Amino acid sequence: MDGNGRWARARHLPRTAGHKRGVEATRGVIRGCARRGIEALTLFAFSSENWRRPREEVSTLMDLFLVALRREISALHENGVRLRFIGDRSAFSARLREQIEQAEALTAENTGLKLQIAANYGGQWDILQAARALAQRVAEGALSVDDIDEACFEQALSTHDLPQPDLFIRTGGEQRISNFLLWQIAYAELWFTPVLWPDFDDTHLQAALEDFAGRQRRFGLTGEQAEQQHA
Ligand code: IPE
Ligand code: MG
Repeated sequence: MDGNGRWARARHLPRTAGHKRGVEATRGVIRGCARRGIEALTLFAFSSENWRRPREEVSTLMDLFLVALRREISALHENGVRLRFIGDRSAFSARLREQIEQAEALTAENTGLKLQIAANYGGQWDILQAARALAQRVAEGALSVDDIDEACFEQALSTHDLPQPDLFIRTGGEQRISNFLLWQIAYAELWFTPVLWPDFDDTHLQAALEDFAGRQRRFGLTGEQAEQQHA
């Protein structure tokens, strides 16, 4: 979700105004995904690197998380959304951690959209924490090194019970991954748009989905093989 700051600057507003509008765009996209029956949505809200931003901006973002979570959680719950946070939450305030835990517990049994908020998340962090957890189990004698394969590794990632992402969307014009789900996007289709996040609405989501629907996904096969698989 990129482009909040530029959206604000273009309007001579403080960057934080862009983040506030970004929350509105986020609400729309969550609704759009739920309405379309999309199984899972993972939003990159705050990266491990974002702590390096000006202190005021970081603290506004943290306040926004807390406020948005409080304000939105009952509507999400009523709509059957299962909400989880992925990332290292130990750096958050006790209040925010508590709110996160409550929201997760409240929606844990919901069977609608699986919504992940990646906060203090980094793809490299995720891979590292998985490696550490597996190493720990090996050290304890609970796991043998030979049993560490792709499936086993995936079970240790923060996205362990989710499907692999089909589509990766980045707004704001940059064409890079910026340490989002690195392992998980191995075969994801990538969609980059210059639209700034606060402007990203359902028509943009629809455009991304239509483009995705027109792509042939080969997963390493030849085009002919892939066609046969779908025949
Ligand atoms: C993305 O918008 C939001 C967060 C990282 C929380 P930016 O704040 O990166 O917006 P730009 O890139 O400065 O426009
Ligand atoms: Mg940015």
